[in-house]
Amino acid sequence: MGYLDEEVKRLQSIIDSIEGRVRDLETKQFGSSSKKTTDEIRMLLIGPPGAGKGTQAPKIKEKFNCCHLATGDMLRSQVAKKTTLGREAKKIMDQGGLVSDDIVIGMIKEELDNNPECKGGFILDGFPRTVPQAEGLDAMLKSRNQTLQHAVELQIDDALLVARITGRLVHPASGRSYHTAFNPPKVAMTDDITGEPLVQRSDDNAEALKKRLATYHKQTTPVVSYYKNTGIWKAVDASQEPGQVWNSLLAIFDNDKAKAEAAGSGILNKLAGRS
Ligand code: AP5
Repeated sequence: MGYLDEEVKRLQSIIDSIEGRVRDLETKQFGSSSKKTTDEIRMLLIGPPGAGKGTQAPKIKEKFNCCHLATGDMLRSQVAKKTTLGREAKKIMDQGGLVSDDIVIGMIKEELDNNPECKGGFILDGFPRTVPQAEGLDAMLKSRNQTLQHAVELQIDDALLVARITGRLVHPASGRSYHTAFNPPKVAMTDDITGEPLVQRSDDNAEALKKRLATYHKQTTPVVSYYKNTGIWKAVDASQEPGQVWNSLLAIFDNDKAKAEAAGSGILNKLAGRS
């Protein structure tokens, strides 16, 4: 009996050590344990104006209980408060240009450092928009020993965006957005939740959109190539109806989860194969 007890103890300690080693290998491969890859999200949505970033990001926030950082919303909040930054930003935004890299990188850093919701991970919407912003984000994450999991590009033809942008209505306080034809509020020009009035963004007109699209193709398309080189880029057809776009995003998350699980069992299978 004494011998059996000793042997069970010895085998248990070997199993504990193997389990620890498997966890280490998973962490090396995914930047965190396989459980965390599914629980915690660190991702961004890239896409032209009207692609649906602001429509899908709140759903991701809800699913993963993370923070949703939209640089456009942050800048509009400065505009509404009439701060010096807000006054400067409004001119640039209405002309379809980009606010300086240092300002937006600073805004994201501030949120990642201080917003308690970001402890569960983050979804970035409208950032990074230039290669220096992408590099700034990499440096920020590196200093926290974190990695990005997904850079999802919402792909859509420019021709489809005019109707989306010119019909958009927003509730400024919450950032909720509607569309006169594709997603109308229950009562015309009124937020479904608060009953407050909806407005049209000052940059949501055909003329400003042309400039925003030109800026996107010139300055943000290189960001897509930047992420294609990292291996975390994925594309979603954003011309589908919103529910389908959401299903495509879910497929990306499910695939990621399956990969993490397969890696775990793959390591165990290899170990099993040796005995
Ligand atoms: P920002 O607020 O980020 O605007 P944007 O990138 O132009 O994107 P939008 O908010 O217009 O589009 P979206 O993809 O969120 O579309 P949505 O889901 O609402 O930035 C504004 C400005 O701020 C910039 O131009 C720049 O000046 C400045 N700025 C921001 N970030 C910056 C940065 N990082 N660096 C420098 N400057 C920065 O959908 C649009 C409409 O379509 C809605 O009405 C919606 O209901 C409808 N819709 C959505 N999906 C679908 C669908 N699948 N089918 C049909 N309708 C749909």
